[in-house]
Amino acid sequence: SFEVELAQSGRTLVVPEDKSILHTVEEAGITVMSSCQEGVCGTCETGVLEGVPDHRDFVLGDEEQAACDVMMICVSRSRGPRLVLDL
Ligand code: FES
Repeated sequence: SFEVELAQSGRTLVVPEDKSILHTVEEAGITVMSSCQEGVCGTCETGVLEGVPDHRDFVLGDEEQAACDVMMICVSRSRGPRLVLDL
């Protein structure tokens, strides 16, 4: 598991191994736009303020993934113990 801090809502959530960031955030009552839930459409693109995403989407190119400033939270996870997202 890892933590996500939501910068706009001032909350920190724990994302378990068996749940996506998207579902974890939605369960906390925060509305996020999403569609495919499979990392292909780009709807759930979310700004990353701190931390290194483990990109698992098919939307971002190599350079965009390396920049670590956005991620698809329906499938991508965290390389480290904590991410700060622009949510
Ligand atoms: Fe389609 Fe996340 S909902 S990429």
